[in-house]
Amino acid sequence: MRILAIAGSLRRDSHNARLLRHVAEQAPAGIVIEIWDGLKSIPPYDEDDDVQPAPPPVTSLREAVATADGLLFATPEYNSSIPGVLKNAVDWVSRPRQSTPFQNKPSAVIGASTGSFGAVWAQAELRKVLASAGARVVDSAHGVSKAHEAFDAEGALLSEADQAACSNVLGGLIGLVEARSTQAAAA
Ligand code: FNR
Repeated sequence: MRILAIAGSLRRDSHNARLLRHVAEQAPAGIVIEIWDGLKSIPPYDEDDDVQPAPPPVTSLREAVATADGLLFATPEYNSSIPGVLKNAVDWVSRPRQSTPFQNKPSAVIGASTGSFGAVWAQAELRKVLASAGARVVDSAHGVSKAHEAFDAEGALLSEADQAACSNVLGGLIGLVEARSTQAAAA
């Protein structure tokens, strides 16, 4: 099973990218989590540019989403919402609506913020946006609060509660992917 992991931050020392690396390292056997790092190359969405061929970074992201079994997002929170660059990338992949690779794609959201609430509003917003774009979004989510204090020097989550909650979200995503492939096999 191949999961595409997308962090919503461009920052070199991003806590959200660190969180994805931690989850990838802890993933059960047989689950490959590939971290996508092309967010900065995605141009601002412009419907005039949304033609064939699409800008190469957009084509590359659409293909990565299409070929992944599931998607795992880690979002920071900017002003109680998701960063504009992440929304911009989601907007590109959501079009055209009839053929978006988000359609029925198992997806899950976690997040990290330096505040006390662990990007809870950003996660809720991203879950809403993904569902609106056609994705099947795992019910559970988890936010790591005080992210600047949450990892050890090797990038592992210090709190067992955070570790368990992230594993739980990943487990939900794996379950959705398995359910989807069972449905596809039965069809
Ligand atoms: C923030 N931050 C923030 N944190 C939060 O919990 N709620 C918020 O509404 C905001 N708003 C906000 C706006 C802007 C413009 C910035 C730059 C930051 C803090 C944010 O959670 C923190 O910088 C994270 O560390 C960002 O994630 P990465 O880059 O570490 O992945």
